[in-house]
Amino acid sequence: MCGIFAYLNYCVPRTRKEIFETLVKGLRRLEYRGYDSAGIAVDGDKKTTTEDNSKIVLIKKKGKVKALDEELYKKDCMDLEVELDTHFGIAHTRWATHGEPSALNSHPQRSDKNNAFVVIHNGIITNYKELKKYLNSKGYEFESETDTEVIPKLIKYVYDNREKEDLSFSTLVERVIQQLEGAFALVFKSHYFPGEAVATRRGSPLLIGVRSKYELSAEHIPIQYNSGLFKEGIEQDKNSHNRPDKPDNSTAVNSVGDGKAVEYYFASDASAIIEHTNKVIYLEDDDIAAVVGGKLSLHRLNSLAGENPVRAIQTLQMELQEIMKGNFEAFMQKEIFEQPESVFNTMRGRICFHTNKVILGGLKDHLKEIKRCRRLIVIGCGTSFHAAVATRQILEELTELPVMVELASDFLDRNTPVFRDDVCFYISQSGETADTLMALRYCKDRGALTVGVTNTVGSSISRDTDCGVHINAGPEIGVASTKAYTSQFVALIMFGLMMSEDRISLQPRRLEIINGLRILPDMIKKVLTLDNKIKSIADELYQQKSLLVMGRGFNYATCLEGALKIKEITYMHSEGILAGELKHGPLALIDKHMPVIMIIMKDACYTKCQNALQQVTARSGRPIILCCQDDQEMSKNAYKTIELPHTVDCLQGILSVIPLQLLSFHLAVLRGYDVDCPRNLAKSVTVE
Ligand code: AGP
Repeated sequence: MCGIFAYLNYCVPRTRKEIFETLVKGLRRLEYRGYDSAGIAVDGDKKTTTEDNSKIVLIKKKGKVKALDEELYKKDCMDLEVELDTHFGIAHTRWATHGEPSALNSHPQRSDKNNAFVVIHNGIITNYKELKKYLNSKGYEFESETDTEVIPKLIKYVYDNREKEDLSFSTLVERVIQQLEGAFALVFKSHYFPGEAVATRRGSPLLIGVRSKYELSAEHIPIQYNSGLFKEGIEQDKNSHNRPDKPDNSTAVNSVGDGKAVEYYFASDASAIIEHTNKVIYLEDDDIAAVVGGKLSLHRLNSLAGENPVRAIQTLQMELQEIMKGNFEAFMQKEIFEQPESVFNTMRGRICFHTNKVILGGLKDHLKEIKRCRRLIVIGCGTSFHAAVATRQILEELTELPVMVELASDFLDRNTPVFRDDVCFYISQSGETADTLMALRYCKDRGALTVGVTNTVGSSISRDTDCGVHINAGPEIGVASTKAYTSQFVALIMFGLMMSEDRISLQPRRLEIINGLRILPDMIKKVLTLDNKIKSIADELYQQKSLLVMGRGFNYATCLEGALKIKEITYMHSEGILAGELKHGPLALIDKHMPVIMIIMKDACYTKCQNALQQVTARSGRPIILCCQDDQEMSKNAYKTIELPHTVDCLQGILSVIPLQLLSFHLAVLRGYDVDCPRNLAKSVTVE
C-alpha cells in the first residue's frame, strides 16, 4: 500500500536534480507495494520572506511515479543545478483509502497554503473526523478528502498556539501524535525548521538508513535483542545463518551523528534504502526520531526526561540485485524462477540432512510450551492462508494436535474463543497485514502463545509475536505472492518435523519428508522446465472468461492458490474447487466449453480424484490434468497433461502450485496486464 521515502543530506552538497533523483528512485523501489498517486516536497529557491526561510514546494501527481518524475522537471521556478549543502526532501506513493486518487488527495499533505508543515503518512487515522471538526471550529480549512490532512493542520495548530513556549520540532510532533488514534508512519518537514526532520510510527513500519563516511559516533551500549524479534540461530550451522534480524553485528544507540557530514534515508520498506546504505534503525511504536544539526536522536512518546529508547543499528543483509528484475519480464516471473534457491534458503542452516535434525532457532526455546498446548491455530490472509491450508494435514499428523486454519478477517468477525493454552501462528509474507496483525493482538490479549512466520525482518508481526520463523525467501516484489508461498509451506513443514523429533513411531515418516526436502530444489528446477509447455496452454486459454481448478487432499490448497493467482493478475474468474464437493454444486458448471484444470497426483486421494475426473469427462469436460510423470491412466482421460516429478505426498503441493503460478503469469502477459501491479491490489494490505 502507501510508501514513504525521505532523504536528508547534512553537510553533503547535492544539486536539486540529485535530490529529485534520489527521491524518485526511492519511490520507484516502493512502486511494487501498489499505489495510485505520488508526490514530493522539497525546499524551493530562497525567497525573502519575513523569516527568510525557503518556501517548501509540493509536487503531486495522480498515476505513476514516472508521471511525477516528468512533472518535476517542468517546474521552471526551481534551479535544478543549485547545490544544497543541507536539505530534507520527502516523497510518498499513496494507495487511496479516504478520497479518490487525485493530486489533491495525494501526499505530502500540508498545514496551509504556505506549506509551513508538510507530512507523508502510511496507515489510517481513525479519529480524523473528530479532529477535523475541532480544527474546523478553530478556523482551519481543509482541502482534501484524506484522513491524513488533520495531521499537518494539527501540528500547525499546536505551533500557532505555543504561546511563549519554545517548542522543538519533535515536541510539536509528540503533541500531535498524542491526539492521534489508528495506525501511522509519519515523516514531517517544516519551513520553520529547515534542514530538520521528524519521523514517528505506530502500527505501520518505518526505518531509517544512515550513511556517513565517518565512523558513526553512536553511543555504544551493550547489544541486546529488540523485544519480539525472533531469536534465530542453529547449533550445527551458525555461520550460514547470519540473519539480519539477529543484531549481533549491530550497535545499540539512542543517537547518531555529531555534526559531521551524514545522510539519512527514511522509508517504510528496506528495499528503498538498500542501494544507499545497509545500516538501518527500525523504529518501534511511539518512537519519535528527530534530526537536528545532522544528529539523529530517538525519544519515546510521553517518556520522562532522560528516558531514551535504545535501538539497534542493524546491518541489512538484503542485496540490491534481489530487488532488481534482471533479465526477467516481471518480478513475479523472476520470483517464480527463484524458488529452487528460496526454498533452499528457508531450509539453510535449519535442517541437517546428516543427522535428520531440524532446528528452528526462533522456536526452540518455546518448544516445550508448544508441545503442551491444546491446539494450534494457524491464521493468515490470501496466499498466506493457503500455506496454512496446504500444511494442515501434515501438521496434524506430525504434531498430533488439532490444527485450525483461519482467515484472519473471519477469525476476528467470529470473536473466536482463544485460550491461554492455544498456540497461534500468524503467517504473513509482509508481516504487516492489518487483519493478521489484529488477530495477533486479539490472541495476545487472551494469553495465547503467538508465533510469527514472516518474510520481512523488523515487520510488525515479527516484532509483536512471542517467537517465530523468518522464511528467508528474499524480497518478494510482485504483488502476486509466489516464492513466499512455497517458503511458508516449507517453514511450516519444518515446524512439524521439529515437533515430531522424539516420536519413535513417526521416524519413518519424518525421514521420508526430510529426504523429500533435500531434493526439493532440484525437483522445482525440473518443474520450471515445463515453462514452454505451460505457455502454449496459456496461448489456448487466455481469451477464456473463467477457469476452474479442482483437486483434493494435499493438493486442495494448490487449487485455492492457483485460482487466486489467476484471478489476481489475469482478472479472469477462477475458482479453486475441492473435488469432493464437485457433485454438491460445481458440477453444474461443467460442459465442453468450461476450462478445467484438475490436480490428480498418486497419493491417498488418487482413486477419489479419478472418480471426480469421470464425473467431469462424463459431462463432456475437457480437463487439463496436473499429474505424476508417466501416469498413463491420466494421459488417456485428459485433454492435456502437465506431468510433474513425484515427491512425498505432503510436499507435492509445492511442485503442483508452480505450473499454476507460471500459467497465471503467461495468461496475464497475453491479456496485456501489468503482472506485478494488478489493479486495485497492494502488496502489503495495511488496512482492514
Ligand atoms: C497473494 O498473491 C496476495 N497478494 C495476497 O493474497 C496476500 O497473500 C495477502 O494479502 C496476505 O499478505 P501477507 O502474506 O503479506 O500477510
